[in-house]
Amino acid sequence: MSNSTDELFKNVISHAKEYGFVFQSSEIYDGLSAVYDYGQNGAELKNNIKTYWWKAMVQMNDNIVGIDSAIFMHPTVWKASGHVDGFSDPMIDNKDSKKRYRADQLLEDRIATLDSEGKTSEAEELQLEMDNALKAEDLPRLKELILEQNIKCPISNTANWTDVRQFNLMFSTQVGAVADESETIYLRPETAQGIFVNYLNVQKTGRMKIPFGIAQIGKAFRNEVIARQFIIRMREFEQMEMQFFVRPGTQREWFDQWKEARLKWHLALGTDAAKYRYHEHTKLAHYADAAYDIEFDFPFGFKEVEGIHSRTNFDLTQHEKYSRKKMQYFDPEVDPETGKPYGNYVPYVIETSIGLDRMFLLTMINAYEEEDLSTEEKQDSRTVLRLHPCLAPVKAAIFPLTKKDGLPEKAREIMDTLKLNFNLQYEEKDAIGKRYRRQDAIGTPFCITVDHQTLEDNTVTIRHRDSMAQERVAAADLENIIGDLVSW
Ligand code: GAP
Repeated sequence: MSNSTDELFKNVISHAKEYGFVFQSSEIYDGLSAVYDYGQNGAELKNNIKTYWWKAMVQMNDNIVGIDSAIFMHPTVWKASGHVDGFSDPMIDNKDSKKRYRADQLLEDRIATLDSEGKTSEAEELQLEMDNALKAEDLPRLKELILEQNIKCPISNTANWTDVRQFNLMFSTQVGAVADESETIYLRPETAQGIFVNYLNVQKTGRMKIPFGIAQIGKAFRNEVIARQFIIRMREFEQMEMQFFVRPGTQREWFDQWKEARLKWHLALGTDAAKYRYHEHTKLAHYADAAYDIEFDFPFGFKEVEGIHSRTNFDLTQHEKYSRKKMQYFDPEVDPETGKPYGNYVPYVIETSIGLDRMFLLTMINAYEEEDLSTEEKQDSRTVLRLHPCLAPVKAAIFPLTKKDGLPEKAREIMDTLKLNFNLQYEEKDAIGKRYRRQDAIGTPFCITVDHQTLEDNTVTIRHRDSMAQERVAAADLENIIGDLVSW
């Protein structure tokens, strides 16, 4: 049983690997830092999270549509968006170990140590000094703070530091076969820009009226120097973003609405509300006039899962400037104050941006339970993933009680009637109890056992993951029983 949060986190990571959820990328070559692959159950869970998001954002809102834009974009996009000049982290190198660190992360770690030693006021003072230096982009001051605190490199154990420098997080590559004709392009660090540059295409072809939204799910890439906490900080990850285009002056109202709606989306999965909190940004990104994070209480503390940003009209006006194409929307609605149509303007944008991989980890951690099933007679336990049935990778497992007497054939026959609608798993190996445990470990809500009675009356035993209760039902009713629990 896990008795500390550290241990719980370690157990979730090894469970994720053992049961085909997450693997280290290129593992046979000792892996690639901060890059992960999703296995057979991980891919299903990830797809189900995407579906839950897409349905809530696109299907349930008739003024939101979804797109799928390319990862590669014209390089000027990133100049206009501010990423070429401003998307960087303050880095410092240790001269002895030649290891590179994020200056703010070294200070954050120091603050955490001071806190754990009960030196609260020192920790608060350092936090304030660091925030001020970051806000003012005062890199020499960040170095001073590192030296003042005598922070040592964990590898060389020396405080022999270089100056702090900005390090751009975008990955670049070349397009074009001939070196002198080639051009540097970037792997997108956020999906949002694909929405901004397409906003008028979608608005016109979809005849969208403000307020309206464009949603997208896709990969993003950042050359994170510090890879931390499993799939929390990755170099290749996935975002689910929605840009909501609104009339200037109404952005605060929409910001508040989306902030609330997004937290509701998280809580609708049945997660304990105490595990979530909002965090208001005091240091705003270059494009934002308000920003909140939705944070989740991971075993290593509260961490951002989603950001809700009021991005003003920054991105669209920048693209207007750099592309020299009009980004204006014509609003025919009449302004009650002037009695005239609102006319042409560049819309303001509220963005909701959630990291799919962080949502995946949150879901795994939240669902993971090591349950003690011991009785007076014997010790027993199971590891169960109490996933929301809609998110479960496998909806039902079908077991023939034995491998003979026509039971496997009957089980397959029942499976064939259900597999178009549900992702199922067929298992005939090992005792039923062992098969139950394997399905509990991947969060399968139902196990269906086909036995000799099934051959006579077409009934099966259905066993529920959470209660472990079993009941006898007609095979013909399975579609409805499973559907009731796992449909959206
Ligand atoms: N378009 C706005 C934007 O990209 P962000 O706060 O940088 O904002 C949004 O990223 C979300 O993407 C974060 O809340 C987080 O869940 C996820 N995310 C960001 N960087 C990540 C990384 N390196 N690995 C995994 N997820 C990441």
